[in-house]
Amino acid sequence: MTQSGKEASAAKGLYIETYGCQMNVYDSERMRDLLAPLGYAPVQSPSDADLVILNTCHIREKATEKVYSEVGRLRAHKQQRQAAGRDMTIVVAGCVAQAQGEEIMARATEVDFAVGPQSYHRLPELIARTARERGETLVAEFTAEEKFDALPARVADGVCAFVSVQEGCDKFCTFCVVPYTRGAEYSRPVEEVLAEARALAGQGVREITLIGQNVNAYHGAANGRSARLAELIDRVARIEGIARIRYTTSHPLEMDDELIALHGAEPKLMPFLHLPVQSGSDRVLKAMNRKHTAAHYIDVVQKLRAARPDLALSSDFIVGFPGERDADFEETLALVRAVGFAQAYSFKYSRRPGTPAASLGAQVSAAQMNERLRMLQDALIGQQRAFNAAQVGQTLPVLVAQRGRKPGQVHGRSPYLQAVHFEGPESLIGAVVAVRIAASTQNSLAGEWTPVRGAAA
Ligand code: SAH
Ligand code: SF4
Ligand code: F3S
Repeated sequence: MTQSGKEASAAKGLYIETYGCQMNVYDSERMRDLLAPLGYAPVQSPSDADLVILNTCHIREKATEKVYSEVGRLRAHKQQRQAAGRDMTIVVAGCVAQAQGEEIMARATEVDFAVGPQSYHRLPELIARTARERGETLVAEFTAEEKFDALPARVADGVCAFVSVQEGCDKFCTFCVVPYTRGAEYSRPVEEVLAEARALAGQGVREITLIGQNVNAYHGAANGRSARLAELIDRVARIEGIARIRYTTSHPLEMDDELIALHGAEPKLMPFLHLPVQSGSDRVLKAMNRKHTAAHYIDVVQKLRAARPDLALSSDFIVGFPGERDADFEETLALVRAVGFAQAYSFKYSRRPGTPAASLGAQVSAAQMNERLRMLQDALIGQQRAFNAAQVGQTLPVLVAQRGRKPGQVHGRSPYLQAVHFEGPESLIGAVVAVRIAASTQNSLAGEWTPVRGAAA
């Protein structure tokens, strides 16, 4: 940041609240960097903020409702600030802004404007205009290319960073709003991604997670041809300073042979993959328009494990999709048993107006959904605990990312994305060190590190 940027940044408070997926986490960081030259610096509480941005998620009904309750909470802060002669600009960004921008502006009068995921590069201009008029909605443009061109250089925040490589989705699963809120698939050119990754590595970033709604559908321009994700990962792996690479979220149909093979060939590519399956029933998968079967998913997993035997898997599941019967749900449980997951997310189906599944009959009752979710989560949590427990006694390379919660502790991640904490000096942050795992819980590992020569990489 330039000196003048620093001076200016003391002037105005910025509070960004992020909901939803990694894409939103990434977008929030870019918004912060975009606004820094205008004098906005992050503050800890909305009451200190001249500008509040709610970066929202539309994926399930509950996620969407949160926006309105959060705006309600901000109303009090805004009024207090106004009483003290200081205003507060409230912006709704993200997927709810895209899907319901007009509705938000009508319902929540304290919101100054709404800006969709492909339009936030225009925040500075919108904020300047708000001083004069309010009530703007800027959505539905879907020009990811224009947005990326307009964004400033990345500023790293820690040793792990997301880099968006692919946006949008052309898959149209019948339950999902993403194709409507994020638009068509777009892949950033290889050189553009590499430039961002190099800039981050130059600022001390050691781990890069390449992100996209369908990241393994990546088809980025590279010297007049199109490169797939395996090639992009191979290029990122050659950047000096980058020790670890991950990618998320993948679609089972896009796991090509090169990408699978790379899991066995590229040591910087971490042995952990989030590969959503949604259901283990072919009937339900068909109704979801997933275009793959349970057998195909298991086949992909087997190929991946043949390439990288210790690969740990994560997934997303939906229970209670319209028409899901007990027998279908049993098939989901059978798939869970067959694969064995290191962790997973499971959701009750949420009817999203405008999606094809919303008009299907045979909606599953709330009681049935709750019961299936409980059974599925029992199975998944059991696997997660067992996976973590299996690391006890082993020595794992841990990328140290930050201070731990307790004094004298540091916190990092295992290759399998497990949270690991252990006693060690802060000087380890940014290093990959060998940690002996002493204990495990459902969500983390506790380890021991001995300062020996050669332990840090
Ligand atoms: N692009 C990714 C992520 C999509 S959203 C993918 O293809 O998997 C993340 C997860 O939210 C999905 O994998 C799905 O499990 C869940 N989800 C999406 N729409 C949903 C809905 N209408 N109800 C419940 N869960 C949903
Ligand atoms: Fe949604 Fe399906 Fe696209 Fe994933 S692949 S974002 S679940 S439509
Ligand atoms: Fe939510 Fe939009 Fe991500 S709907 S999951 S924030 S793409």
